[in-house]
Amino acid sequence: MAEPVIREVKPEDVEAACDIAAAAWEPVFASFRQMMGDELFGIACRDWRGQEAQQVREACQGAGGAMVGVAELDGRVVGFVTFYANDESRIGEINNNAVHPQFQGRGIAPKMYEHVFARLRELGMLYVKVCTGGDPAHAPARRAYEKAGFSTRLPSVEYYRKL
Ligand SMILES: CC(C)(COP(=O)(O)OP(=O)(O)OC[C@H]1O[C@@H](n2cnc3c(N)ncnc32)[C@H](O)[C@@H]1OP(=O)(O)O)[C@@H](O)C(=O)NCCC(=O)NCCS
Repeated sequence: MAEPVIREVKPEDVEAACDIAAAAWEPVFASFRQMMGDELFGIACRDWRGQEAQQVREACQGAGGAMVGVAELDGRVVGFVTFYANDESRIGEINNNAVHPQFQGRGIAPKMYEHVFARLRELGMLYVKVCTGGDPAHAPARRAYEKAGFSTRLPSVEYYRKL
């Protein structure tokens, strides 16, 4: 199997990254809908595709100091990762990241994370953090992070109640 090339994002990659986000987060938002119910989901996650795409586009433009890496396989962008350095805390952060469902399970995300770690080390970061869901749909993400060496966990819970 061909090895993915991990490189910095180019302007022509942005729409591919948005498409990957929409395809990869479909099962995650389906799981949110189940947990939240239709009413709350319809309010809290209305237009999640548009919001994810906007976050990816803004990150690709460097908003808030964002950096973006992509995984390219046989000339096709199949994954992306957005990340940040923080010169005060020296703790870098991985934010949105996804691999197209057709290419998941091949260890592509951990390779993207290695690219991020190298870049953050160059920028003087001492640690890197990432936040993810504790729900079943985020099990692949948790597994990918653990394979990449994330080992210190601080669990948190997001609650809602109807008013
Ligand atoms: C998280 C994600 C980026 C991992 O990418 P990846 O390249 O598939 O990562 P890996 O190949 O290392 O797979 C990680 C784990 O996912 C699980 N997994 C992968 N493909 C799967 C599939 N088709 N069905 C079920 N589980 C799968 C496996 O548990 C795998 O661990 P293993 O290698 O020990 O079997 C990808 O699953 C994804 O895009 N998820 C949706 C978006 C998301 O949750 N992003 C993170 C936000 S915090």
